[in-house]
Amino acid sequence: MKQPSVAFDTRREQEARQARVEEVLAGLREDPPRISPIWFYDRRGSLLFEKICELPEYYPTRTELGIMRVHAADMAALLGPRVALVEPGSGASLKTRLLLDALDRPAAYVPVDISGGHLMDAARALRQDYPSLRVEPVCADFTRPFSLPAAPLRATRRRIVYFPGSTIGNFPRDEAIELLARLRGIAGEDGALLLGVDRVKPKAVMERAYDDAAGVTAEFNLNALLHLNRELGTDFDPSAFGHRAPWVAEHSRIEMHLVARRDTTFSLDGESFGLARGDYLLTEYSHKYTLEDATAKAAAAGLTLRRAWSDPNEWFSVLLFEPA
Ligand code: AVJ
Repeated sequence: MKQPSVAFDTRREQEARQARVEEVLAGLREDPPRISPIWFYDRRGSLLFEKICELPEYYPTRTELGIMRVHAADMAALLGPRVALVEPGSGASLKTRLLLDALDRPAAYVPVDISGGHLMDAARALRQDYPSLRVEPVCADFTRPFSLPAAPLRATRRRIVYFPGSTIGNFPRDEAIELLARLRGIAGEDGALLLGVDRVKPKAVMERAYDDAAGVTAEFNLNALLHLNRELGTDFDPSAFGHRAPWVAEHSRIEMHLVARRDTTFSLDGESFGLARGDYLLTEYSHKYTLEDATAKAAAAGLTLRRAWSDPNEWFSVLLFEPA
């Protein structure tokens, strides 16, 4: 997306920027210092993520696409005709196409993504390929409240929130429950949530998926620093950081770290920070779920499991929830 010109840099935009600065500062003051994964996703980061999805080591996308290929018709039958799909964190909308192809006359598709240019590209391609589908992109950070366009949702029979890719894994327990509750609210009492979750599996498989031989995940991780430097004016020295992605069994998650290869400093808004060699920035959690765990979190958000589809290895599952 184009940056607003100075003339349009209203007070409200300045306030929004200041709020982002405060959030990033709060993260950097933590121990270990944290950067939200939303900072991966500028246009370059969105494209790097698509490259990750094609890596031989990164099993989640391939596995979930396989589940969709085999079971999308079954899902569509349960969802019913003329639904509106709302997809938070839609990216390239690849899996969505498999669902759209299977659905009976889907009425509307509302992709929600933080990377505006990338979102518009995906929306344009979908409009072309699905001429009778109303595509209404919303550029927003779905981790915060956002408003949906009312018109395209009115004429539809049922609202389905589609949240694939195990994006829910980015959130620690309480935040995950909070987000699931919000998604339940977006779906409404008659709606449903179709959720992709990555399952717990052998540690070596998971660790390799987040530290690939070609170094694409490392680039993706480092891109958060470039994005912050450009957008908020931090002065990270990317060459001072290396990529690491350990499995942390205690929390059932992969953690993405940017490890200082030497002592390094950076600052934001006049506040300075330092890392000693070997210290790290925490950029992402990727929680892995058991079915029990996923069902329990959803239950805490007021959702009941209707159906589960998995690959033969049970490495990934797509779960259909409805309001309890
Ligand atoms: C988009 C959050 C599902 O956790 O697997 C991929 C992001 N990070 N490789 C994941 C990611 C590193 C991805 N999610």
